[in-house]
Amino acid sequence: MTGFDLIIRNGTVVTASDTMRCDVGIREGKIVALADKLEGGEREIDATGLLVLPGGIDSHVHLAQPTSDGSVMADDFESGTRSAACGGNTTVIAFSLQERGASLLDSVAEHHQRAADKCHIDYALHAIITDPTQQALEHDLPKVVQEGVSSIKIFMTYEDMALNDGEIFRVMEAARREGALTMVHAENFDAIQQMTERLEKAGQTGPRGHADSRPIVVEREATHRAISFAELVDVPLFVVHVSGGDVIEQIEWAKRRGLPIYAETCPQYLTLTADDLDNANMEGSKYVCSPPPRDEANQKACWDALARDVFSTFTSDHCPFIYESETGKQKAGADTSFKYVPNGIPGVETRLPILFSKGVSEGRISLNQFVALSATNHAKVYGMYPRKGTIAIGSDADIALWDPEKRVTLSQSMLNHNCDYTPYEGMELIGYPVTVISNGEIVADQGRPTGGPGKGRFIARGPSSLIPTTR
Ligand code: URP
Ligand code: ZN
Ligand code: ZN
Ligand code: ZN
Repeated sequence: MTGFDLIIRNGTVVTASDTMRCDVGIREGKIVALADKLEGGEREIDATGLLVLPGGIDSHVHLAQPTSDGSVMADDFESGTRSAACGGNTTVIAFSLQERGASLLDSVAEHHQRAADKCHIDYALHAIITDPTQQALEHDLPKVVQEGVSSIKIFMTYEDMALNDGEIFRVMEAARREGALTMVHAENFDAIQQMTERLEKAGQTGPRGHADSRPIVVEREATHRAISFAELVDVPLFVVHVSGGDVIEQIEWAKRRGLPIYAETCPQYLTLTADDLDNANMEGSKYVCSPPPRDEANQKACWDALARDVFSTFTSDHCPFIYESETGKQKAGADTSFKYVPNGIPGVETRLPILFSKGVSEGRISLNQFVALSATNHAKVYGMYPRKGTIAIGSDADIALWDPEKRVTLSQSMLNHNCDYTPYEGMELIGYPVTVISNGEIVADQGRPTGGPGKGRFIARGPSSLIPTTR
């Protein structure tokens, strides 16, 4: 077989199940050959000493998402996918937010417009439902799912977003009917509000109050409630951004009962703690995200759960807000109370290097687990497999070449997002993506973008592998 557009030679190809020495032949954006030795490439990359991995899929990123408090997300689909590509990713799934009072169908259309001609790599959308009207659930949702937005995120917290119990139930029923996967942000809104008032009365208004206002019991309770509703409605449920041991216990409890309950965790829960929010000035606001980072025991619980395959995916929950810039002070400016600090931290570019270094290089997870957690399981869970998420004949040529020995000290100056800081400043890593290929084209090299906006396409997704095909 000859006549390839690109051959990747001499690398070690790793999938979620196998590790093999072979060449990869690419034609017209697809992987068309895997063999010991391939000849006849228009271009060739010598991957001696490198790992040839499926490009990362980050199935939890927020880009150009409207906010209710007027803060503006630092990354749009252009800078967000540029940053993602430089961090070893070839697909992101971003959120389309339906604001209260707005049409679900229109909000998805608006997010398509925000993404069109902007993306450096392929993208897909999840639909956030904050207003589960009959119109939204019975008229709009079927169309949205049919157009390839086959997953829904609901919130149990945040003003203007939290659904009440009846609404959660009804969304799950609609998801069951339409074959969509329900994702849940599980934190108890009322409890957080009470805790917030208590802290403010005591004068504890600094960033640390964010963590103290939403201890893990708030997340544990909401997780249990969401699992219970999923059991009643008889639907699979995906619990996003799990932060520690008490919540993992709930997930494993559900799994032991045979319930189709799945979950993800994120870098912040492996590497940060609530003490990072504990700053006299506003520096602590750089780490304000929900759920908040916990403590070292919970970091260990998350690592152990990753190693035991309790988590299906590992995502960034990239949700960047400017700390302090000439154009404004978003995080740093919220100095009258932690409750005004926009929630979310950047991380789409650092997610995989952190998991690789602290996970694979330090021996906590295997290389095949890394591939499953970084790409393959995202493709399966969100209905893009085997087009995405693996290295196989017929799959899209989405590949990240990793140097497992490369030493990098993370710093804001090396990153390609539009945020003005990284919460991981100074972190020392071993292993980094060196060349990233999306649909057969090099989109990032040595940590810098080489593609350009507009090449990334919308990926219409099918049903999740977690949804039973017979009922
Ligand atoms: O603090 C966070 N995680 N902000 C992003 C929105 C969300 O809850 O996922
Ligand atoms: Zn209509
Ligand atoms: Zn969330
Ligand atoms: Zn999120």
